[in-house]
Amino acid sequence: MSLYQKIIRPFLIQFDAENIHIFTFSCFKFLQKLTVVRYLLSLLFNKRHPVLERELFGLRFPNPVGLAAGLDKNAEAFDILGSMGFGFVEIGTLTPKSQDGNPKPRLFRFVNDKAIVNRMGFNNDGVVEAVERLKKKKTNIIIGGNIGKNKLTPNELAGDDYINCFEELYPYVDYFVVNVSSPNTPNLRALQDKEPLKNILNKLMGLNKIKTKIKPILLKIAPDLNENQLDDIIEIVRESKIAGIVATNTTISRDGLSYNNEEIEAIGAGGLSGKPLNEKSTDVIRYIHKKSNGTIPIIGVGGIMSVQDALDKLDVGASLVQIYTGFIYSGPALIKNINKALIARNINK
Ligand code: FNR
Repeated sequence: MSLYQKIIRPFLIQFDAENIHIFTFSCFKFLQKLTVVRYLLSLLFNKRHPVLERELFGLRFPNPVGLAAGLDKNAEAFDILGSMGFGFVEIGTLTPKSQDGNPKPRLFRFVNDKAIVNRMGFNNDGVVEAVERLKKKKTNIIIGGNIGKNKLTPNELAGDDYINCFEELYPYVDYFVVNVSSPNTPNLRALQDKEPLKNILNKLMGLNKIKTKIKPILLKIAPDLNENQLDDIIEIVRESKIAGIVATNTTISRDGLSYNNEEIEAIGAGGLSGKPLNEKSTDVIRYIHKKSNGTIPIIGVGGIMSVQDALDKLDVGASLVQIYTGFIYSGPALIKNINKALIARNINK
């Protein structure tokens, strides 16, 4: 057990989940200003080895383990998160205008099941504020910009919100993720349907092509899509020539939770992440990889709580992986251990 699991986590989980998030982020924001802290964290957690490096959609990732969207929504702590061993950090989901998200409480831990349910609802400071922070980036951590639409923007006009975020972030991020899969913005997931999705992706790719450099655009999908819907997604990714898929977002299912129905229902709506999501998201990655003959790059995310969970996702076809809930439960040691295992696996080959 790491220091984080032995001492820090038991202390933190006594408090309300969102308050702890706010407190931890305040510490991160303060500490990341100190070069010495970033340096020490790097010494402790950053693994460097040529076998960890991945060349993907024109970017060189120092290792394949990234931070999933939603933790650093407002681009406040990417420098210090990079020092904790992540090979890349995805900020967002950002929307054109700032918005409060859903009423609190909206973040719930299921400690026994190593799971979280959230219905945050894209609470964020807006893309312009995030850009101001990105301008002050101190490290060379690879940044993904995860973009969405404001709650009040009707789906017919959603394309404009994605374009707005794309244009604002373009100079400051290395790749983009189009998020149409959060369960917490009403009707957002309807944008995963063929026509609206084609429309948004084609518009973004049209703008991307007239830039001096095309930046990778990926699509983040829900784990709750059936095989027909996944086939449509594969077709759209091919036709629109976007760079790849992030699979997956949180699930609306409650399978795999050991709590009784009343306790689960009392929590209400939201997306489930962590251990119960693991197999479901791995199945989606496997399906897309097989069906596309490995031609579509996939960032695998969903329920990576152990080294083996990450290896499984890489083995079924993910080129990179991302972690959110596993980072909350295990801290940066999980990233380090995954990278150590990848080095060991390659050396013992
Ligand atoms: C998320 N996730 C998420 N995804 C996204 O694309 N935009 C977002 O704003 C958020 N926000 C968010 C908040 C919270 C509290 C959680 C727990 C998750 C989803 C996240 O990026 C990831 O896809 C899922 O959580 C599955 O991975 P894990 O958490 O099981 O590793």
